Formats: sequence, C-alpha cells, structure tokens
Amino acid sequence: MGRVALVTGGTRGIGKAISARLKADGYEVAANYSGNAEAAKLCEEELAIKCYRFNVSSFEETGASLQQIERDLGPVDVVVNNAGITRDAPFHKMSLEQWNEVIDTDLSSVFNVTRQVWDGMRERGFGRVINISSINGQKGQFGQANYSAAKAGLIGFTKALAQEGAKRGITVNAVAPGYIDTDMVRAVPEKVLEGIVAGIPVGRLGEAGEIASICAYLASEEAAFITGATMTVNGGQYITG
Ligand code: CAA
Repeated sequence: MGRVALVTGGTRGIGKAISARLKADGYEVAANYSGNAEAAKLCEEELAIKCYRFNVSSFEETGASLQQIERDLGPVDVVVNNAGITRDAPFHKMSLEQWNEVIDTDLSSVFNVTRQVWDGMRERGFGRVINISSINGQKGQFGQANYSAAKAGLIGFTKALAQEGAKRGITVNAVAPGYIDTDMVRAVPEKVLEGIVAGIPVGRLGEAGEIASICAYLASEEAAFITGATMTVNGGQYITG
C-alpha cells in the first residue's frame, strides 16, 4: 500500500490534476470536495479514487471526515491544501461576506485540515504539507484584497510551520501558481483575462498538470531537504527572488 494523500478541492481544476498525478505515482488518494457532487462522481470513476464531501471551513466537519478517511485508507501522510474560492470585487464594493467566505475557505481551512493530521505526522516522523498559494498572494491583485490576503497568509503559515515540522520529518511548502487554465480563471471577464495573458512572458495560461508535477515532487522522499519554500509556477509573470 502506498502512502495516503489528501487533496482538498481535489475533484476539479488544479486539485483534480494533483489527485490524478498522486494516484499515478502510487498514493492512496482521498479527494475532498464541497459542493459539486457530479464532478466528484466523475472523478471517482475516472481516477478510481475515493472522494469525500466536507466543508474545509468547518473544523468539526473536517475532523469527522478525516477520521473517516483514516478508517478507509489509513493515516494521512501527505496533505495538499488546495481548496479555494474567489469572490472578486474592488475593495470599495467588497462585502463582509465576500471577505469572510474567502478567508474561511482559502486560509482558515488550512488550519482546520493541517491541525488535525499534524499530531499523527509528528508521531510517525513523516509528513508532507503542500499549500496552494497564488501569484496574487505574492504580488497582490486589483479586485482581490480578500484572496490576496488569504494566499499571502498561506505563505506565512508555510514558513512558520516548516520550522516546527523540520525535526519530525515533516516538510511544509507552498506552491504559488500563476494563471492556470481552470474554471476559476476562465470566470475572469474575457477582456481582463486577455490583458493578463498578454503580461505572461511564456505567452499562455498554465496547465493544471504543471502544478501537479511540482506537488508530486514536493510530496516525494527526494524533496526531504526542501521546506518552508514557495515554488513559483507562473510562466514568468511575476519573478520573485
Ligand atoms: N488595475 C487598475 N485598475 C483596474 C484594474 C487593474 N488591474 N482592473 C480594473 N480596474 C479599474 C477599471 O479600469 C475601472 O476604472 P474606471 O472606473 O476608472 O473605469 C474600475 O477599476 C472598475 O472596473 P470594473 O468596472 O471592471 O469593476 P467591476 O466591479 O465590474 O469588476 C473586478 C472589478 C471584479 C476586479 C474585475 O476587474 C475582475 O474580475 N478582475 C480580475 C481579477 C482577477 O485577476 N482575478 C483572478 C481570478 S483567478 C485566480 O484568482 C486564480 C489565481 O490564483 C491566479
């Protein structure tokens, strides 16, 4: 039996590509989803993995599902915190609800999931935590004060937790995708998206598989010396030091 990996938001977009890649690499994969049962069913059929419906912004719901996953597949060795939403609006139009929804789903979820697998990883002396941040957490984005704050928060979380996991065989890293060809990016108004793509030196949107491959590497034994890092995968749109 391979190691057990949980991918939140793992049935669509980038998350689905990560679930598929980890499955192909021999992991027992649990893919989480919150709303789209049809996509989850398709994912179960296509990838032959188990999908679990729970809301990552609820600590209790997440805890109950994690117990179920452990009963079904065994202790979780690899967590990919990928679940995320956007509620874009210029700040002067942003509601408290839009702020809270994004902070709860994109940032607090990472506490809810990671906190509840952390003790087990410490006890077993192995763990991989991979947090899917964003280019817009690195550079900020007009219309995304909520999302940029959450995604930047993930980078701080990664750097702090990496120091705590290091002596226990647990690595904690972030991946910061640029604009990837997913439903989330396709929802950006066409004219706005055209302008964004024009600013990507590679000249195209990224592919979900290009994020999955870096996650697979970070999950592997080979990546044991990489921790606290943020892997930037954005076609050169924003080059960080
Ligand atoms: N920089 C400066 N000004 C901008 C701007 C920008 N990037 N984008 C819009 N504006 C300006 C407009 O020119 C306009 O100015 P005027 O009033 O002077 O004409 C003003 O802001 C209002 O623009 P809109 O009428 O478009 O405002 P809106 O309320 O209808 O929509 C918006 C604003 C929702 C932010 C829309 O512009 C938008 O969707 N932008 C894209 C945001 C984005 O990139 N989201 C990423 C989603 S994908 C993702 O998040 C995945 C990932 O990790 C990368």
